[in-house]
Amino acid sequence: MIDRQRLATAHAAEEQRFIDAHPHSARMAQQARGSLLGGVPMAWMTRWPGSFPVFFEQAQGARFTDVDGIEYVDFCLGDTGAMTGHAVPEVAEALHRQAQRGITTMLPNADAAWVGEELTRRFGLPVWQMAMTATDANRFVLRFARHLTGRPKVMVFDWCYHGSVDETLVIAGPNGKTVSRSGSIGPQVDPALTSVVVPFNDLDAVEQALAVGDVACVLMEPALTNIGIVLPDPGFLEGVRALTRQYGSLLVIDETHTICVGPGGATAAWRLEPDFFVIGKTIGGGMPAAAYGMTAAVAQQLMPTLTDSSIDVSGVGGTLTGNALALAAVRATLSCSLRDVDFAHMIPLATEWARGVQATIDEFGLPWHVQQLGARAEYWFCPPPRNGADAAAACDAELDAFMHLWAINRGILLTPFHNMALLSPYHTSDDVALHTSVFREAVQALRS
Ligand SMILES: Cc1ncc(COP(=O)(O)O)c(C=O)c1O
Repeated sequence: MIDRQRLATAHAAEEQRFIDAHPHSARMAQQARGSLLGGVPMAWMTRWPGSFPVFFEQAQGARFTDVDGIEYVDFCLGDTGAMTGHAVPEVAEALHRQAQRGITTMLPNADAAWVGEELTRRFGLPVWQMAMTATDANRFVLRFARHLTGRPKVMVFDWCYHGSVDETLVIAGPNGKTVSRSGSIGPQVDPALTSVVVPFNDLDAVEQALAVGDVACVLMEPALTNIGIVLPDPGFLEGVRALTRQYGSLLVIDETHTICVGPGGATAAWRLEPDFFVIGKTIGGGMPAAAYGMTAAVAQQLMPTLTDSSIDVSGVGGTLTGNALALAAVRATLSCSLRDVDFAHMIPLATEWARGVQATIDEFGLPWHVQQLGARAEYWFCPPPRNGADAAAACDAELDAFMHLWAINRGILLTPFHNMALLSPYHTSDDVALHTSVFREAVQALRS
């Protein structure tokens, strides 16, 4: 459907436009290359469109300004880390206040119980622990699951993403064998020893794998969000829950992204019943913080371990984990954001965003689709997939790069690695309308 020669020519023109518009970012990128691997503090920051990343000056609400004075509508929001919007005043004030009163003491304070109670109110699980990141939280939960079941393996869904957790950086290879995901750096052991991968929306495959009896837990997002949005078929999540109970495996629901469904994530909205629940990224309003919850039955079994004299070398927790600054951030964030009233604004805007994209898909007769999940929406270059492998097969790196660069050259930031938009309480219909017209112009440039 897309003429590759035309795409390459249009991309080159956009690249030049980007370079011309960003002299200060270019200079900062050149300087940073002198001391930082790839010129960035974290390797993913090389994945932005353009031959260098835009360096940001300040971010507020749904917008940020770069060092060249250009303002952008931010639909990436730190890939969900800033889903609340940037620099939320209540969070900034809470951080400032706490920073003056001590950041880290390895002692609990008055915010700790407030945070636990609020997490219970939102997500339903009665007992909580903090982590620094969702990756951390997932690692801790996998340890607990193996500890409780005495089983070695973790089941994940093909093309999932749960952070830099060795067991989860896997896909189903030829003949369904678990293999390392391409790009995964230095896996320590053959991942087939630690992980079982099955296709999303395939209950037969789930049952076949669980029936072997070596799976400690199933770790899943209730809808895949990291290989495009793949929604669960009706009955799939209930089926996984029933099968995990039948075969004695624990169910871990990772809502780090699917919090976009509502204030209690998909767990509250769809009445899921996980044994463990993981959430990171946005609960600190941008400040690194994550949490994991568990049922009372799980907590009771874990208590002897958690009060053991060797807890400091248990592989769970960390020196800075649960620090006062993170707790203050979570308390402020959950007090003033990600509430019903916020989602009542964000979700309709995501619907508007998806409708705008769909209108162009229809107008140009493209075999693409746009999918919405709460406050998140994403377009993908194929009909709606039922599993991660179908979605992955439709990846088009050249087209992705062009669409992202075209958008950034017109004041719109999309999430890298995806064609995804996340709507915050600060976005407006005008922001969405801007994306709708910029998206249409991009397609028109490729098709006319
Ligand atoms: C579902 C899910 N879980 C966990 C993570 C890991 O989050 P972090 O990189 O903040 O540790 C991600 C990151 O994208 C995610 O999408």
